[in-house]
Amino acid sequence: MSRSPATVLLAVGGGIAAYKAAILCSRLVQLEHDVRVVMTKSAEQFVGAATFAALSGQRVATDTIDHNSYPAGPHIELARGVDLMIVAPATANLIGKFANGIADDLTSTLYLQRVCPVLMAPAMSASMWDKSSVQRNIEQLRADGCEFVGPEEGWLSCRVRGAGRMSEPDSILERAELMLSSD
Ligand SMILES: Cc1cc2nc3c(=O)[nH]c(=O)nc-3n(C[C@H](O)[C@H](O)[C@H](O)COP(=O)(O)O)c2cc1C
Repeated sequence: MSRSPATVLLAVGGGIAAYKAAILCSRLVQLEHDVRVVMTKSAEQFVGAATFAALSGQRVATDTIDHNSYPAGPHIELARGVDLMIVAPATANLIGKFANGIADDLTSTLYLQRVCPVLMAPAMSASMWDKSSVQRNIEQLRADGCEFVGPEEGWLSCRVRGAGRMSEPDSILERAELMLSSD
C-alpha cells in the first residue's frame, strides 16, 4: 500500500465510464487519500458533481474562474501539493488536448499546471481508440511521462464488443497505489 494519506487530483472526463470514476473516488477516500475532483463540462452531463462532492467530502471544481474559493485561480490552487493526477475516464478529447498543450478548460489547464505524475485511464469506442490520431496522442503522452492503465477489451456502451472499455476501478486503484508508493 502507498504512503497514506496522499493528495490525489481525480479528473473526470465526459464519457459513460464517469460512473466508474465515482467508485474509484470512493475507494481512494476509503484508503484515506485526500481526493480533489475536477470535472469537465461534458462529464457533468454523465454524473452529477453532487455525487463526487459527497464521495470526496470536498467541493468539486468545474470552472477555470472561481474568485470566491480560489483567489489565485483553481488551476493554481488545486494543483498545489498534488501527489498524483488520475484522469478517468480519459476521453479522446482530453488525450488530444493534453498531448498538444491545449488549456481551454480547468481540467486541461490543471494538467499543464501540475508537476506530479499522471495516470490516464482511457475510455472510448473501439473506432475512436483505433484512430491513428488518438494513438499518436497516446504515444506523445507516454513520451511526456504519462502512465496508462487500459483500456480493456470488452463490452462497450455503444453495445458492441471491442477495445476501449475503461479499466475497472480496482485496477486503476492498484496502479495508482503502485505509483504513489514508488515516489
Ligand atoms: C453517450 C455518450 C457517450 C460518450 N462516451 C465517450 C467516451 O467513452 N469516450 C470519449 O472519448 N468520448 C465520449 N463521448 C464524446 C465526449 O463526450 C465528447 O468528445 C466531449 O467533448 C468530451 O469532453 P471532455 O473531454 O471535455 O470531457 C460520448 C458522448 C456521448 C453523447
